[in-house]
Amino acid sequence: MAIFSIVNQKGGTGKTTTSLNLGSALAKLGQKVLLVDMDSQGNLGYSLGLDDGSTIADVFEGTTEIEDIIQQREQMDIVPSDMRLVDIELSLMDMDERHNMLNSKIKHLSKKYDYILIDCPPSLSILAVNSLYASERVIVPMLMEVLSLQGLDQIIQTIEKINASYKKKLVIQGILPVMVDKRRKLSQEVKDYILENYDVKIFNSMIRNNVKASEAPSFGQSVIEYAPSSNSAKDYMDFANEIVKLN
Ligand SMILES: Nc1ncnc2c1ncn2[C@@H]1O[C@H](COP(=O)(O)OP(=O)(O)OP(=O)(O)O)[C@@H](O)[C@H]1O
Ligand SMILES: [Mg+2]
Repeated sequence: MAIFSIVNQKGGTGKTTTSLNLGSALAKLGQKVLLVDMDSQGNLGYSLGLDDGSTIADVFEGTTEIEDIIQQREQMDIVPSDMRLVDIELSLMDMDERHNMLNSKIKHLSKKYDYILIDCPPSLSILAVNSLYASERVIVPMLMEVLSLQGLDQIIQTIEKINASYKKKLVIQGILPVMVDKRRKLSQEVKDYILENYDVKIFNSMIRNNVKASEAPSFGQSVIEYAPSSNSAKDYMDFANEIVKLN
């Protein structure tokens, strides 16, 4: 069993796309998967065509149990979110155990799943801290561009702080290059820079830029279901195989 946060405080770096497609690919490999949306934008549920209904906001408010809001798509269990997470975030500010909200709600579920994947918001806010605190490992989907490097320092520092404050052993499993255009030399240069200057791994897998990945959400499907023979589906299947082989 492993709990991963999919983290990058920059917007639009493929966190949601990676959460749902890695999840669906892992499910295809026979793994039992739970996806959790911790972003108030609610993109994850929308992208999988989930029904409107109760979400993790209700669970945090204490009016519903997490078991009652789980929906199923593509052999996965999914915990949706909605924009009320913004208010929850504000109310968490005054709580002593504010980092432990998500962990306290999903801890008992961990035995049921091989993988729990948490889709984080584009920030390192208290909701992201909740996701990280509930996790053991981190996947950082990243565009291989110079501007991405600025954000990397912040992610590393945040994880170090969480480990120190809460006696955690959270590790960055790796950076996942996304929306890669193989014709651009810059990608390789940014990769080399990261490997030389940071103590983080880059996954062997990478996700190519592919229009099918961006089309799939409008059909409420992962790209694995929507376009199984596309580059994106293949890349995410390869990535799932890399994840399964980790120890
Ligand atoms: N491999 C890809 N090829 C082409 N487009 C992609 C690819 N991966 C993601 N996209 C598109 O890029 C946009 C951003 O992706 P996504 O929503 O997954 O990012 P995010 O990090 O979750 O964003 P946010 O920070 O807002 O939560 C979306 O329109 C998505 O469809
Ligand atoms: Mg997202």
